[in-house]
Amino acid sequence: MRLLIEPTPQEVARWAADYIVRAINARAAVTDAPFVLGLPTGSTPLETYAELIRRYEAGDVSFRNVVTFNMDEYVGLPEEHPESYHSFMWNNFFSHIDIKPENVHILNGNAPDLVRECADYEAAILAAGGIDLFMGGIGEDGHLAFNEPFSSMTSRTRQKTLTEDTIRVNARFFDNDIEQVPKRALTVGIGTVMDARRVMILATGPKKARAVRHGVEGGYSHQWTISALQVHPCGILVCDDAAAQELRVSTYRYFKQIERDNL
Ligand code: PGA
Repeated sequence: MRLLIEPTPQEVARWAADYIVRAINARAAVTDAPFVLGLPTGSTPLETYAELIRRYEAGDVSFRNVVTFNMDEYVGLPEEHPESYHSFMWNNFFSHIDIKPENVHILNGNAPDLVRECADYEAAILAAGGIDLFMGGIGEDGHLAFNEPFSSMTSRTRQKTLTEDTIRVNARFFDNDIEQVPKRALTVGIGTVMDARRVMILATGPKKARAVRHGVEGGYSHQWTISALQVHPCGILVCDDAAAQELRVSTYRYFKQIERDNL
C-alpha cells in the first residue's frame, strides 16, 4: 500500500486531482480507448472535484473520453432529490466538465428489480473493460463505499442495509433528521473495487483517524473493510495530517520517508 500524508485537505485534493489528470492524460497519449473512472460521493471528495473542474477549465484535461461508474446510491430516494447521489454528482462535478452524459453510470436505487440492477451494473463495468482507477472515501467505521463492517471482502454490487452509525453520520445531509435518511443503499462490493487496476482512497479530518489506523496498521479484516486495500496491487491512501494522527510515529515516519525518497 502507498500512503501519502499531506498537511491539509486542500493538499490531499490537489494530490488526488493531479493523480487522476495524469492517469487520464497518460492513457490518452497512447490510445483512443476510454479511461474508466470509479467515483465516490461524500464531503471528502468535494475539494478534489473542485480541483478537477479547475484543471478542466485550465485546459489541462478533458473528460470527453472518460467513462464513470459511481460507487453507490440510496434505495428509494428520488433521483431528483437534492441528496441523491445522482444530484450530488451532477451538481458538484459532471455539469461543470465535458463528460458525455451517456458515459456516466450511477446505480438506480429506484429500479423495479434491484437485484437485476446490480447484476447489470457489474456487467456494464466488465463491458467497459473494467475500472482503471477507483477513487473512494472512508466511513468513520472504516466502510468503503457502503460496505459496512463485516461485509464480505469478495462482495459484488448489491443492496446493503446501512448501519445506525452511518445513518447518524449522514443525517447531516437530511436536516439532521435520522428518519429522513434512507435505510438501504445499492453499492459496489469490495470485490468490485478491488478489481479496479488502481484504487485511490481519500481520508481527511480527525474523525477518520481511527479508520485509517485500522486500515493501515490493523490486520486484513472484514471488521474494517478499508483494510482490503492492503491486498490490492496498486492501493493508494491519501490522507491529511489529522486523519493520520492515530498512526504510530514509526508508521508515520516510514511512509513520509518513502515518499520523500520517491521524489
Ligand atoms: P464523507 O463520507 O466523505 O462524507 O466523510 C465518506 C464515506 O462515508 O465513505
